[in-house]
Amino acid sequence: MPESITITDNRSGESIEVPIVSGGVDATEWRKLLPNIWFYDPAFMTTAACSSSITELDGENGILRYRGYPIEQLAEHSTYLEVAYLLLHGELPTSEQFDTWTHDVTYHTFIHENMRKRFMEGFHYDAHPMGMLVSALAALSTFYPEAKAIDDTAIRHKQIVRLIAKLPTIAACAHRFYSGMPFVYPDNNRPFTANFLNMMFNPVEWIDYDNPVLARALDVLFILHADHEQNCSTTAMRVVGSSHADPYTACSAAAAALYGPRHGGANEQVVRMLTEIGSIENVPDFVKSVKEGSGGRLQGFGHRVYKNYDPRAKIIKKTADQVFEVTGKNPLLDIALKLEEVALNDEYFTSRKLYPNVDFYSGLIYQAMAFPIDMFPVLFAIPRTSGWLAHWEELLEQDSRISRPRQLYTGEPEREYTPIAQRK
Ligand code: ACO
Repeated sequence: MPESITITDNRSGESIEVPIVSGGVDATEWRKLLPNIWFYDPAFMTTAACSSSITELDGENGILRYRGYPIEQLAEHSTYLEVAYLLLHGELPTSEQFDTWTHDVTYHTFIHENMRKRFMEGFHYDAHPMGMLVSALAALSTFYPEAKAIDDTAIRHKQIVRLIAKLPTIAACAHRFYSGMPFVYPDNNRPFTANFLNMMFNPVEWIDYDNPVLARALDVLFILHADHEQNCSTTAMRVVGSSHADPYTACSAAAAALYGPRHGGANEQVVRMLTEIGSIENVPDFVKSVKEGSGGRLQGFGHRVYKNYDPRAKIIKKTADQVFEVTGKNPLLDIALKLEEVALNDEYFTSRKLYPNVDFYSGLIYQAMAFPIDMFPVLFAIPRTSGWLAHWEELLEQDSRISRPRQLYTGEPEREYTPIAQRK
């Protein structure tokens, strides 16, 4: 069987053989052979915008691997910082490499005092923490102007370390500010997630912020959210990165993409939906309303790529049990479990291959750990920063051209300018 497709132009009767490369058609070949014939593909439904060796996602079979390692094994045995290293370097670190990496990230957790006092504290008193994070990321570029030297690998590495290290500090700072609490400086004697929990909640006595089970659960959630190949925010990172903007500005654009409810905001919608359902008895009626179209979508169900159980959702269920043992069960859990059971036995959902995604349970865990709902997209952005940066480095190493898609123009044809007095 030849690895090609034959296309016949019925206007001229001419046939052209286009080679298939890695299961698709290479646009460079296409452009040569069929000039001026475009693909019209809004939302990139069938377009691979890049090649990548970072994350493998097989949505039909529910498989997710970072650099070849199954997500289940990483969630079981690894830590977020080790996974961040793996995503960025392509290999798991040796103990020496891991010690250096951990030291470097820990060393860079502090933010410039002006960043906190002049910038973060300049926001309106009830500013949304994700809005603060998006702006703070862009502002960081002004603190580290050398970041513009993106061709220098040592400088690049330093900004990567800074970004991964400072994200939890900025996130906690945003939370403390809008909840009217004093800022807590990083405590670099604590591991990554324990430090974050401390900056978030110390000294609130009703929150178990020092509990290692919660720090480990957060670490697992960070591993699960660290990368997900060409999602909306990573695509934003690559598009902005392709213009050779500095990494802080590109991360700010990626975080902006993550802010939207269709992406980083879905777990918030799940919590709101479960709260609205209110009790297990209301689940069948709610499912009926979803199927009839009057109840909106079943939040936390369905995925553009997964047409099977999201492997991350399975791991999260286990993590939820561990967290609830410490915090007490989130009262919304029973509703969520019932909803999942009803949906997975309903032809409407099974025929459309709609399964729980990562967001179906993550919000419940975050809520049980005392994170306010507004912080959910911020919690997503902290680990995803390592994924964004891995793709940014890959893009630079690939020496990619600037992202610049074509469009199908559907506006007016040429017309004459009319002076304002003559317009009707
Ligand atoms: N509830 C009910 N029906 C659904 C749902 C849902 N959650 N998701 C899809 N469908 C139905 C659609 O109505 C459509 O039915 P139809 O063929 O009868 O018209 C069919 O399933 C296909 O849906 P699409 O919209 O074409 O699927 P798409 O791939 O564009 O959307 C998305 C994927 C946005 C995730 C969608 O499933 C959804 O809105 N889910 C709820 C929100 C959510 O959980 N988002 C988190 C995604 S994960 C992440 O970003 C981290």
